[in-house]
Amino acid sequence: MNKVRIGLVGCGGRGISVTTLFRIHPQCEVTACCDIYEACATRAAERFQIPARFVYTNYEKMLREAPVDAVFLAPDPMVQVAMACQAMQAGKHVCTEVPAAFTLEECWKLIETVECTGMKYQLMEQTRYWGFVQTWTQMVDRGELGHVCLAQGEYVHYEEHWGCWTDTETGDILPSNERPRDRDVLPHWRYLLLSDPIYYLPHTLSPLLSILGDRVLSVACMGTRKQSYTQQGLPWCDIQYALMHTEKDTILLAGAGFSLPHVPRGATYCHWYELRGTDGSVCSPRCYSEPFRVWRRGMSDFEAMSLSTIPLGADQEQAQTGHGGADYCPVDTFIKSIIEDTTPPLDVYLTAELTAPAIVAAESARSGGALLKVPDFRRR
Ligand SMILES: NC(=O)c1ccc[n+]([C@@H]2O[C@H](COP(=O)([O-])OP(=O)(O)OC[C@H]3O[C@@H](n4cnc5c(N)ncnc54)[C@H](O)[C@@H]3O)[C@@H](O)[C@H]2O)c1
Repeated sequence: MNKVRIGLVGCGGRGISVTTLFRIHPQCEVTACCDIYEACATRAAERFQIPARFVYTNYEKMLREAPVDAVFLAPDPMVQVAMACQAMQAGKHVCTEVPAAFTLEECWKLIETVECTGMKYQLMEQTRYWGFVQTWTQMVDRGELGHVCLAQGEYVHYEEHWGCWTDTETGDILPSNERPRDRDVLPHWRYLLLSDPIYYLPHTLSPLLSILGDRVLSVACMGTRKQSYTQQGLPWCDIQYALMHTEKDTILLAGAGFSLPHVPRGATYCHWYELRGTDGSVCSPRCYSEPFRVWRRGMSDFEAMSLSTIPLGADQEQAQTGHGGADYCPVDTFIKSIIEDTTPPLDVYLTAELTAPAIVAAESARSGGALLKVPDFRRR
């Protein structure tokens, strides 16, 4: 195969921005698109010059008829697993967005479907490709920080207009904390999902576990009440924090929230990370005036590190893609895995290892912070 033919499913903000990158990839062409709302699918088709006969509002029809080797799924996250399994059973490779799944059964179902069908599956998590994450990985591999006893991170993405509703006729997204009365609407997935923001834990675990080469064994999680203090009317926890223990004996502390205002993190926008080892520490900026920093045993203060989010070795075009240059990486790894018939780096087992701690954390938070185990998806 010289070029992978991709179909976009879910023509919203993320679907469009990532498909723009599939379109510029030299070994890929975008040949079909699908959205339950015709207007959304048609807008995407115009943008990507997809002929009208390959524009769908019915996903099963697209899987049956469209000239695609693979689908990129970016619909409401809650429907992704069922759609991914359907695609693999129809002989299509699949990549899906964060969060990948919402139950442990869904994680197992994804694994079983990949194993049964032999199709490729990849999660489109991208922050693990950030340049400073790659540099920190090299430092940890060389033993510069000693044993990393504590790894911390946070994804607190404050947006004023994330309480929103979907117009059931047009698919338009209407920002409002209260249900609009002048139109027929359904609550948008963000309205429903963000009551447990910890489901977004994979965005923090992905770089941290990639650096450590580790997996989470147990989780306890707590959050504030399910009624935002900042966004009146929204049934959201402003912050949830998970405390985890890993196989290699590191304590992980990671939080997520979508309605807690915070100082912009500088280069990493709404993400923040720190590693504390027996021989040194590194941390990302907490605000624009802070640099990336390192401290080594014996030093009297932190030292600035000249690091950035741009993946190491990225060319100028890739460096300008979304999320600080990282968005192109999962696009490229997915396409290469199909062309070269290799396993994608963020495969289904790793996806389960990043996703299950979030699912277990949400369950722990619901039970008041109980310590719960995460299954081992590689040993059955
Ligand atoms: N990796 C990242 O950094 C990142 C960034 C933003 C969003 N995301 C993820 O991307 C996904 C989409 O986010 P978004 O902001 O684009 O949402 P969105 O609501 O703007 O778009 C979703 C689109 O999917 C369509 N859709 C819903 N169900 C469908 C179905 N069954 N078949 C076909 N189309 C369907 C909707 O009509 C809508 O047009 C979410 O999972 C989100 O968490 C990831």
